[in-house]
Amino acid sequence: MNGTSNKTVAEFFAGIGLMRIGLENAGWRIAFANDIDHDKWQMYKDHFGDTGEFVVDDIHKLKSSQVPTVALATASFPCNDLSLAGARHGLAGAQSSAFWGFVDILKTMKLERRQPPIVLLENVTGFLTSHNGQDFENALLALN
Ligand SMILES: C[S@@+](CC[C@H](N)C(=O)[O-])C[C@H]1O[C@@H](n2cnc3c(N)ncnc32)[C@H](O)[C@@H]1O
Repeated sequence: MNGTSNKTVAEFFAGIGLMRIGLENAGWRIAFANDIDHDKWQMYKDHFGDTGEFVVDDIHKLKSSQVPTVALATASFPCNDLSLAGARHGLAGAQSSAFWGFVDILKTMKLERRQPPIVLLENVTGFLTSHNGQDFENALLALN
């Protein structure tokens, strides 16, 4: 099925599902969700029900075969290393480097000729200035 013809989403770093609430209100359907945190998955499940699309695992361990073909991939990746309130280790930091796990999944999906045509990143404003803008530039280059 062509993922562009339907409003389907693979939601990475799904947490308790706040992105999902917004997207569903806009007519999108969550085909896949992932987060590493079991407690957040519990809250997600309590709210949305267990309909089988949520995979609890480290994004670095996910296989592209677990991710269906979708029109949109979202990433609310950890902000700890990008925030102005943190130590600003950037995309190389222990938490925010999870972004590269997301990129790896997309790269594999591209090789499989089924990369999502739309990618949505959600993060703090400190992402724009991290390492004088180099992290943001590297992120855009990787996505391109
Ligand atoms: C900024 S929060 C996203 C919050 C989300 N938008 C929500 O509605 O709760 C980042 C999320 O990334 C998850 N996370 C951190 N490292 C991860 C990893 N290596 N693999 C998968 N998820 C990870 C955290 O558990 C957290 O829920």
